[in-house]
Amino acid sequence: MSTPVKVAVTGAAGQIGYSLLFRLASGALLGPDTPIELRLLEITPALKALEGVVMELDDCAFPTLAGVEIGDDATKVFDGVNLALLVGARPRGPGMERGDLLEANGGIFAPQGKALNEVAAEDIRVTVTGNPANTNALIAMSNAPDIPQSRFSALTRLDHNRAISQLAAKLGVPVTEITKMTIWGNHSATQYPDLFHAEVSGRNAAEAVGDQDWLANTFIPTVAKRGAAIIEARGSSSAASAASATIDHARTWLQGTPEGDWVSMSVVSDGSYGVAEGLISSFPVTVANGEWSIVQGLDIDDFSRGKIDASVAELAEEREAVKELGLI
Ligand code: NAD
Ligand code: LMR
Repeated sequence: MSTPVKVAVTGAAGQIGYSLLFRLASGALLGPDTPIELRLLEITPALKALEGVVMELDDCAFPTLAGVEIGDDATKVFDGVNLALLVGARPRGPGMERGDLLEANGGIFAPQGKALNEVAAEDIRVTVTGNPANTNALIAMSNAPDIPQSRFSALTRLDHNRAISQLAAKLGVPVTEITKMTIWGNHSATQYPDLFHAEVSGRNAAEAVGDQDWLANTFIPTVAKRGAAIIEARGSSSAASAASATIDHARTWLQGTPEGDWVSMSVVSDGSYGVAEGLISSFPVTVANGEWSIVQGLDIDDFSRGKIDASVAELAEEREAVKELGLI
């Protein structure tokens, strides 16, 4: 067995944490031959509940789980971590405006970015799942000047997986037949799931669907509003699927994308596809040797242009809001 990979999870006593930790510990991210050490961060009042979760982790006797440390001090918990999964974030409550949420979460992601900057390992990679994920990632990145910007990402893999699942169901094919799915923009209702570059068994997905009305008026809103539909049905937000997507995202980042396919990741824009530089926006990306690259050269028609621009405009507004709050 090799040296354990140190993986930090924040909000570890929450709903997503309860699904994520057991899958991480069982080898779903790193495989059966690489031990994992979990570093779990929570706020002080949640530490007792987290102790209970750790008892359960112990009781699973996972062969790949090399150790677990918990705490409420980010500079201790993040010390030497190779991967940080930033899940813990305050959800929007009744009467809260977007600015309130951004301010509340800035209070979480600015200090966590600073702590990572100070104590994380050289090869640190950071994935933000906690909402508003893209702008929280921007806040963390902006507060970690010594970590390369390419090491920060936000989760749009859940949206990507939702889009694959909806398309496969529509066409009556296995999900494994769908490739080159793309989510553009923000992890919010403005996101743009793109079928014009996706493929079904190697054939263009929009052509295979052959129904622009379904694409525009059923597929896109179903994927974009899936989170709200789950909250409505379950009474709380998606958790197991969010945990699963967080693992998919991190595994792809570490292991790479298969030949002839790509994934959706929210990463810092270099201006590709007209997305303002510096925003953390979802793109089609390939990954090799632990480094992502935005897929270049895709034709963007007027329909797609309008959808991408609308979601990117929302990201730009969020950036302005957190700038005004002095968070970046
Ligand atoms: P939850 O409320 O069950 O758990 C969140 C946990 O974070 C709580 O245990 C809380 O104590 C902890 N926390 C709060 N502040 C913290 C801090 N400063 N440091 C460490 N921990 C802290 O919520 P959940 O269902 O697990 O969801 C977590 C986040 O993920 C939410 O913001 C949710 O909106 C988001 N989410 C994102 C996606 C996505 O696809 N990007 C999908 C689903 C949910
Ligand atoms: C999801 O996509 O399921 C969540 O981000 C929904 C939400 O608003 O918490």
